Amino acid sequence: MIIAIDGPAASGKGTIARHLAQAYGLPHLDTGLLYRAVAKAVLDAGHSPDDAGDAVAAAAGLDPKKFDETALKTQKVTEAASVVAAIPQVREALMNYQRAFATQPSGAVLDGRDIGTVIAPGADVKLFIVASPQVRARRRVLELQARGEHVDEQEILADLRRRDERDSRRSAAPLVQAPDAHLLDTTHLAIDAAFRAAVAIVEAVRTGRKR
Ligand code: DC
Repeated sequence: MIIAIDGPAASGKGTIARHLAQAYGLPHLDTGLLYRAVAKAVLDAGHSPDDAGDAVAAAAGLDPKKFDETALKTQKVTEAASVVAAIPQVREALMNYQRAFATQPSGAVLDGRDIGTVIAPGADVKLFIVASPQVRARRRVLELQARGEHVDEQEILADLRRRDERDSRRSAAPLVQAPDAHLLDTTHLAIDAAFRAAVAIVEAVRTGRKR
């Protein structure tokens, strides 16, 4: 079974993806890490994230097994990831790895922005996870505070809106709900309830298929 999960930042998609992967015994790929790793490589080399040449070279040389997730979650890398992700050749360079991960015999769970539309359009189950910008900003603040970072909630909210805009408006694989994706709004749901709602969707799709 391939489960494709898309949605904006801090919508809950990453947590839901991890829990679903565990529940169904499937390997999980957080595809945002790929774009973050490209962004970090570009920044570390002292280059600008909107320089397509540098970003494409970083994407082509990426080793997805060597990710240091903590270093990829800083605000600087987060912002730059959204910039490199808008470069079509960067997306192209990361495509084969993601498609191979999705189509491995065991099945897989992938989360990102274009999984149900571009990477795995034939996925068995597609979820599109959303939440209000205010709730997403609150979640991000709590997450950053837990890591000891001092943050301004209004700044985080403005940053989320800017990234939403960039991720949704870009011409290459923008963030959009696939026509056959199931919408799950986690605005008023705690993690447990959001996970249960996701399982209910997966089970409904599986049961429907068996009929
Ligand atoms: O999910 P995330 O916040 O870790 O993603 C980081 C950036 O990468 C985000 O701004 C959008 C981009 N991204 C993308 O364009 N396509 C994906 N499949 C995953 C992430």
